[in-house]
Amino acid sequence: MGTPLTPYNTNESKKEQVASMFNNVAGTYDFLNHFFSMGIDKLWRRKLVKIMGQSNPKIILDVATGTADLAIAETKLNPEKIIGVDISEKMLEVGKTKTKQYPTIELKLADGEQLPFENNTFDAVSIAFGIRNFENVIPGLAEMHRVLKIGGKVYVLEFSKPTNWFIKKIYYFYFCNVLPFVGKLVSKDARAYSYLPESVRIFPDGKKFVELLQYAGFKKIECRQLTFGISTIYIAEK
Ligand SMILES: C[S@@+](CC[C@H](N)C(=O)[O-])C[C@H]1O[C@@H](n2cnc3c(N)ncnc32)[C@H](O)[C@@H]1O
Repeated sequence: MGTPLTPYNTNESKKEQVASMFNNVAGTYDFLNHFFSMGIDKLWRRKLVKIMGQSNPKIILDVATGTADLAIAETKLNPEKIIGVDISEKMLEVGKTKTKQYPTIELKLADGEQLPFENNTFDAVSIAFGIRNFENVIPGLAEMHRVLKIGGKVYVLEFSKPTNWFIKKIYYFYFCNVLPFVGKLVSKDARAYSYLPESVRIFPDGKKFVELLQYAGFKKIECRQLTFGISTIYIAEK
């Protein structure tokens, strides 16, 4: 997939730069997320949870859990355990405060590309807006495949590119101009919110992402476009 796009142009690895970026924006992350999406991101996570509920998973792993919004949404399914992992300590700190009243959720500092779990452990693995930030996407997906039980499913929620020309025009204006400007003002990280549209632009979506899931070993892959194709949920089975 060529040289990865990195948040800051430094000698650190993409993983280190991504962790620093999310450490920098952790305090304003939730506010900006809901503000920029006008709350639609919550509906997208809820949709993922609704689809996941059809398989009635008991042990769930949420990779790149960040401030744990998806892990919290997953408690609706009454699973026995939800483990959330992330490489950003500060995002997890925010997540830990939010999940105090959810005893089924456990948050851990861990790399999604080297998951500290045995093979065939989880009924379901989810990842929302995380895979695009991985340094090594296919090995990352292969790790999720490894820790899933046979027949278990991965649920990937990720930005995609709208196809309708009118929606595209409004979306790109908003995403490439308004969002970086406001993001810089509020988060105080000049790069985080210009990295976001750039990373979405170059990240494979639709059929191309389905191919990556296939390379990683998944089968029975489905894509569900959300809100004019601005985001997509990919569901795939081990
Ligand atoms: C855009 S946030 C998404 C957070 C959360 N899933 C949500 O829906 O709001 C992306 C998260 O991915 C995490 N991340 C990036 N690369 C990772 C990796 N290799 N392993 C674990 N987490 C990673 C970042 O630290 C960040 O918290």
